[in-house]
Amino acid sequence: MFPVWKGVFRRKRVGRIEADRPCRSEEIPSHVALIMDGNGRWARKRALPRAAGHHAGMLAMRDVIRAADDWGIKVLTLYSFSTENWKRPHHEINYLWQLVDEFFQLDIGELVARNVHIRILGEPSQLPQATQVTIARALESTKTCSGLVVQFALNYGSRWEIVKAVQHIASRIQKNEIAVAEIDEDMVSNAMDTAGLPDPDLLIRTAGDQRISNFLLWQIAYSEFVFVDVMWPEFTRKHFYSAIQAFVARERRFGGLK
Ligand code: IPE
Ligand code: IPE
Ligand code: MG
Repeated sequence: MFPVWKGVFRRKRVGRIEADRPCRSEEIPSHVALIMDGNGRWARKRALPRAAGHHAGMLAMRDVIRAADDWGIKVLTLYSFSTENWKRPHHEINYLWQLVDEFFQLDIGELVARNVHIRILGEPSQLPQATQVTIARALESTKTCSGLVVQFALNYGSRWEIVKAVQHIASRIQKNEIAVAEIDEDMVSNAMDTAGLPDPDLLIRTAGDQRISNFLLWQIAYSEFVFVDVMWPEFTRKHFYSAIQAFVARERRFGGLK
């Protein structure tokens, strides 16, 4: 049975607003990372349970994935659950895993049809068994897909990712596979969960807070940041489009001169 509140946002669901690319295809960021924040505040404003905010957030996420695919973005990284989010009440955490199950079960057909390749950042081994099975199936179903890469950061913390990378490199030194002097930026990048993918060009955070909250600390060295005030469940492809246009208007110098 769907709880009563599910009808509230179904009626308000925003459909496709912009099907066209927001700018010339060569200006489209290759990799967009998203901190999807504000589900709880969205729900509180409507006197709904936080779970309703997370469910509405899942619907917003679905449309953002479609937009990224429609516009030719190569990699989309979605911060879905941080290592610090375990501090939340059990019932909220359990609902979030239920939503992960629901999302992958309902959307996997469309993702495969869109040729979307799914990757996971973080430690799924600490998730409930049923969620791990759903995730493993989704990874298996999309492993040969060669289109948009969607990375779900699930039980992800950037500091822990860096610690794991250091441990991995140190163990290779211990086994005499590499020398200390061989460690370089590429080796560190390749020891991260994001190995083999370009760094984010654009990082968007919703809900007004201007912080990183332990997300991709190594990878965002030269990303452009766009902070938007709308709560994540209200974030539509129109907001996504505006964020990309803000990105296109920036001058990226990477420490050099214009
Ligand atoms: C983001 O929304 C979703 C997760 C962190 C899982 P929040 O649940 O953090 O919403 P606010 O920040 O409390 O409004
Ligand atoms: C960041 O949001 C994590 C996710 C969006 C999954 P939080 O709501 O956990 O971040 P803080 O606590 O406001 O920094
Ligand atoms: Mg939050």
